[in-house]
Amino acid sequence: MTNITVAGTGYVGLVTGVCLAEVGHSVTCVDNIQDKIDLLNKGISPIYEPQLDELIVKNSQAGKLAFTTDYEGAYAQSDVIFIGVGTPENEDGSANLNFVYTVARQIAENVQRDCLVVIKSTVPIGTNDKVEVFIKNHLKHDVNVEVASNPEFLAQGTAVRDTLNASRIVIGVESNYAKEVLTGIYEPFNQPILSMNRRSAEMVKYASNDFLALKISFVNDIANLCEAVGANIEDVTNGMSYDARIGNKFLNPGIGYGGSCFPKDTKALHWLSEEEGYVLRTVKAAIEVNEKQRFKLIKKARQDFPTFQGLKIAVLGLTFKPGTDDLREAPSIPNVRLLLNQGAQVHAFDPVGVENFKKIYPTQVVYEDSPEKALEDADLCFVFTEWDDIKTIDLNLFREKMKTPYVYDGRNCYSLSAAKEAGINYQSIGRPDVKEFKVKEEIVL
Ligand SMILES: NC(=O)c1ccc[n+]([C@@H]2O[C@H](COP(=O)([O-])OP(=O)(O)OC[C@H]3O[C@@H](n4cnc5c(N)ncnc54)[C@H](O)[C@@H]3O)[C@@H](O)[C@H]2O)c1
Repeated sequence: MTNITVAGTGYVGLVTGVCLAEVGHSVTCVDNIQDKIDLLNKGISPIYEPQLDELIVKNSQAGKLAFTTDYEGAYAQSDVIFIGVGTPENEDGSANLNFVYTVARQIAENVQRDCLVVIKSTVPIGTNDKVEVFIKNHLKHDVNVEVASNPEFLAQGTAVRDTLNASRIVIGVESNYAKEVLTGIYEPFNQPILSMNRRSAEMVKYASNDFLALKISFVNDIANLCEAVGANIEDVTNGMSYDARIGNKFLNPGIGYGGSCFPKDTKALHWLSEEEGYVLRTVKAAIEVNEKQRFKLIKKARQDFPTFQGLKIAVLGLTFKPGTDDLREAPSIPNVRLLLNQGAQVHAFDPVGVENFKKIYPTQVVYEDSPEKALEDADLCFVFTEWDDIKTIDLNLFREKMKTPYVYDGRNCYSLSAAKEAGINYQSIGRPDVKEFKVKEEIVL
């Protein structure tokens, strides 16, 4: 049996380890944070991700899944080591590879068998080549180590489902040995395996994420134009989506993409392209549109409220999207910061994101355990995340609970007609009140 170790028990590493065990492999997950490993050994997931807790308990009890901080012991016995540690953004926009190289060094110093190291973390093109050289240069034992790329495409909120039913598995390999090992590991998943060289595999990941980010920014750009010309973005994207070449995914306008991937992966590829003397103009535009889009709601609210000083503001939704407790690059963060800096009292509701938000604002924000409580006596309300608990609110609540029912919805959760019927001042993204638009008289010369 192949001994598999996964380095990093975050969204990618933990889900990978658990799903590999679920299909029958023997897996050890390593993390350097003792608290996370303690929780995992009690059968509790440190991250919110549907299905994960059940699978952790099931596979741990079956003896297929173990958790440890003892990387020395784990790497010494491994045939295959997946690296799933973070690659956050450096201040200049480039990818920070410190975590990847720390693990690479730990592997080099402890591995005692021939071993395939598989990089799942999103890394700049050429990193797999460099990590392989780095490990070979730091080996303490006389063993063969090869590096393969295996980028991850799961989405937070559906990570387990995405892994067990992936649309494709991309492997970047430079030898038949690496291809055979990875094909064998992924065989039980019964998913299409696309094999290519390491640099192409690294590029597939960036190109995919940046394309999705671009799609979001494009829709937001068109939504903004809809507001200026009296078109409705929902009708527009619906009309577009019937074209099979366009499809109906990622066409929702909003206050911009967030999360741990799109913001950093767009910047990292843009940075890398500039290093190579090439400017990725499309990706640059996606980044610029996204930066501005984040404050779209505040801009709208300022037209009704010249100052937020002393106002009670309800915030519904904190996470960067529903289905996750992750707040990395969530648009709620800069928006709440701005509101607090301007002297507003912020009362926030989120079904799972509160504990993480408290790490940023432990006392400055009042956390409420229901939308109703957040709305009580509020002067205005911002909707930042389209959680079901928020989408399904009875719109009359805004009128009944708030001091003045001004609602700025960054995720187009409610229909314009329902908002009108409920008697609230409602603004959303790309859906202007078309009655305000008069036909401009043509000047005939
Ligand atoms: N989150 C996603 O949706 C997603 C999707 C696809 C790809 N990715 C990529 O996967 C990588 C990981 O992302 P994530 O969101 O899972 O990160 P994360 O921050 O949630 O998890 C990283 C984990 O690695 C651990 N770690 C750090 N140094 C370590 C070490 N030396 N040994 C063992 N563990 C160590 C951390 O404690 C943490 O638990 C990134 O490159 C990211 O871009 C993420």
